[in-house]
Amino acid sequence: MLRVILVFLIWVASLAVADAAGPATRTSDASSGGSSRGDFDLLLHARPADPAHVLGNDACVKCHANEINVWKKTPHATTFDELHRRPEARQIARNLKLRSIKHDGRCVACHYTQQQTDQGSLAAIAGVSCESCHAAAKQWLDIHHDYGSPETTRQSESPAHRAERLRRSIAAGMRNPDNVYLVAQSCYRCHTTADEELVNVGGHSAGSEDFEFVAWSQGSIRHNFVRSDGAHNQTSDVKRLRVMFVAGMLADLEASLTATAQATQKAKYGVTAAGRTARAAKRLRSVSEKIDDPYVAASLKVFDGVQLKLNNRESLNKAAQTIAKLGYLFAAKNDGSSLSPLDPFIPPPETWK
Ligand code: HEC
Ligand code: HEC
Ligand code: HEC
Ligand code: HEC
Repeated sequence: MLRVILVFLIWVASLAVADAAGPATRTSDASSGGSSRGDFDLLLHARPADPAHVLGNDACVKCHANEINVWKKTPHATTFDELHRRPEARQIARNLKLRSIKHDGRCVACHYTQQQTDQGSLAAIAGVSCESCHAAAKQWLDIHHDYGSPETTRQSESPAHRAERLRRSIAAGMRNPDNVYLVAQSCYRCHTTADEELVNVGGHSAGSEDFEFVAWSQGSIRHNFVRSDGAHNQTSDVKRLRVMFVAGMLADLEASLTATAQATQKAKYGVTAAGRTARAAKRLRSVSEKIDDPYVAASLKVFDGVQLKLNNRESLNKAAQTIAKLGYLFAAKNDGSSLSPLDPFIPPPETWK
């Protein structure tokens, strides 16, 4: 029986699951708000914010000044002024024969936010910004804060309207933390450093090897003001942390498989990526022994079906894509209440970065 369920889930995930492109609680159908298979496909792997749709943090400050004040103090913001001055950065640029760290495309994908100017040229306008994690905002900005009428507030919005608003924002490309998998994917896109030449020739680190979603998101990066209407910067509650803990491991597996897919040489990059993938799978396996979750089990089955070897791009990429969908579904369907056996393993506050 279990086997049938897993095969079915993997089959569902290997299609473009347009129907699932929304929170589990959504009430209306996919016909409004431009949701289609195509839209959901856009969300599969995290990508650099699309410069043509980047608005910049100035477009958020009116309503999110607290979040911006927190962000300004993080390395995500300060890398904008600091990176090109660092001797290590200059050495990497020399190794790769780049003329400019800020203007050449190579470093931009993970250290900067690019915006397209009216003339069509690209300019780095910030470091790792709001839109690096939540996706370029032009298409979703108006949708995400539309409570329906000027009189409606956060408190008086109906659950059905809320569910539909969140669903539409995601369909428009927003990496909305309502589905934590979407933001976990953002982290791992950069923190896995999927660029073979950057590592093997440039000498860049092969990613943040100790990255863990809960510990790295709940410390200095945290900017959870909305849930208390601006009163506090709250940590996520235990049920949400459980979902984040597992979603982070699934996103790690997805990103590590994607990184391994790029590996062509037996050198630092490929060895690190494969090692990281094996470790992510091992952690998930240990989780699957403690909780009974069909999405985790299906992800492991996908992993078991591929070989972690060099020049195996197509099959590794396909596995990563299926896991992306399973991760999304895991986060959409799970409220954390059944994951309490994981509590002793979730990184405690004193380890938060
Ligand atoms: C006109 C005000 C306004 C602007 C401008 C605005 N937001 Fe929001 N944002 C809100 C409100 C209100 C909420 C809370 C929605 C709710 O109740 O869930 C919110 C929530 C969010 C959330 C949490 C997810 C959600 O949907 O609840 C994220 C992430 C977010 N905004 C990002 C941004 C970013 C990034 C920008 C700039 C590109 C931005 N916002 C600009 C009003 C705004
Ligand atoms: C795929 C994403 C990615 C790309 C592309 C990338 N970096 Fe990084 N870089 C990171 C991440 C993530 C870190 C954080 C440190 C780590 O590796 O854990 C980092 C850290 C660094 C550091 C160390 C910062 C410190 O704390 O001292 C330097 C220097 C650096 N990058 C230079 C570059 C240069 C120069 C380029 C372009 C040639 C580049 N990076 C391209 C993701 C990337
Ligand atoms: C667009 C690429 C990008 C994304 C997306 C991203 N990061 Fe980073 N992050 C970096 C880079 C680059 C650095 C290092 C900056 C530097 O030192 O110059 C960094 C540094 C950090 C640091 C500081 C590390 C330290 O050793 O002090 C933390 C914590 C962190 N990131 C957490 C996260 C989390 C959590 C997410 C997802 C919610 C995330 N990052 C998403 C690129 C990214
Ligand atoms: C490094 C990635 C990253 C960056 C940069 C980032 N966010 Fe977030 N954001 C997240 C994550 C992860 C969460 C969910 C955290 C949680 O649930 O504990 C989140 C949650 C939020 C929320 C919901 C908070 C709540 O109370 O539920 C808002 C609003 C938000 N972000 C707005 C912004 C704005 C505005 C910016 C730019 C100043 C920004 N974010 C920059 C990753 C990021």
